Amino acid sequence: MAYVKMRWIYISLVVLGALCLYFSLDGLSPFKGEPLVFKNEGGSFLQLPDVDCRQDPPFLVLLVTSSHEQMFARSVIRSTWGREKVVRGKRIKTFFLLGTTPSKDMSRAVAQESQQYHDIIQKDFMDVYFNLTLKTMMGMEWIYRFCPQASFVMKTDSDMFVNIYYLTELLLKKNRTTRFFTGFLKLNEYPIRKRYNKWFVSKFEYPWDKYPPFCSGVGYVFSSDVAGQVYNVAESVPFIKLEDVFVGLCLEKLQIKLEELHSKQTFFPNGLPFTICRYKKIVACHHIKPHNILLYWQALESSLEEECPDI
Ligand SMILES: *[C@@H]1O[C@H](CO)[C@@H](O)[C@H](O)[C@H]1NC(C)=O
Ligand SMILES: *[C@@H]1O[C@H](CO)[C@@H](O)[C@H](O)[C@H]1NC(C)=O
Repeated sequence: MAYVKMRWIYISLVVLGALCLYFSLDGLSPFKGEPLVFKNEGGSFLQLPDVDCRQDPPFLVLLVTSSHEQMFARSVIRSTWGREKVVRGKRIKTFFLLGTTPSKDMSRAVAQESQQYHDIIQKDFMDVYFNLTLKTMMGMEWIYRFCPQASFVMKTDSDMFVNIYYLTELLLKKNRTTRFFTGFLKLNEYPIRKRYNKWFVSKFEYPWDKYPPFCSGVGYVFSSDVAGQVYNVAESVPFIKLEDVFVGLCLEKLQIKLEELHSKQTFFPNGLPFTICRYKKIVACHHIKPHNILLYWQALESSLEEECPDI
């Protein structure tokens, strides 16, 4: 009898061990503590831009995710598509979103940059890739608290080319004011469960099989009321480190539907070879190095009056 009992204990232990191994490999490990939720921390912006949106509200605010090292990219953006501009009578302003770094030198440099250009929005969280959701939510909070008078917001990245002329034209043509969200639509995306993939998401972090509809995080545009709505619904949505999926979850909860900005593709998250005529009819393109942002922008601006054949 004792032998049979021992055998059962042994088998149970093996089965238990196998289950533990399975769940930990699958990312379903029950030993990781509480599920993550986003918390609106409120106050404590470390850097705030010097703008008063109540007077002369911007038509479009560009929020650019950036990191401490990307000083050159920021300076190029300030002198190209991010320069303060009036297009078709509409004012456009650009700000950069940053977290914090352990490097004292870089922190000091960014504080100085902020004093010089007044275009940096910064809160106290570690500026690492997988804190992008915090960075995006900081941008939403900033719009909600400091600039709800803006008509539209674009959240984009520092390796993007943004054609603010065409974007303004299309937004005016679209003539939407509230609950509007557009970009490069991703309607059928699934979580990647391969552990060593950059985009790996465990079943613990996201237990469902499919992502909600969302817009590629490299550049999306929305009416400014969406910022406050997303900010306020965020605490009741499961937290996921992929910021674009997280915003998608918020929009799903708010029942805000994604829309195309135009009948033709205008957002290019995977890049697009440059020609003047092609770039006149795009809103945003990813994977553009600062040097090329400069070249493309100069080419675009010097040919604004030139006609292109229809493509
Ligand atoms: C994100 O920032 C928080 C607050 O600074 C920090 O505790 C956390 O470790 C960061 N996340 C990652 C993935 O490093
Ligand atoms: C924009 O929409 C409003 C109604 O929401 C309408 O009154 C106005 O005429 C529209 N403007 C244009 C240019 O289509």
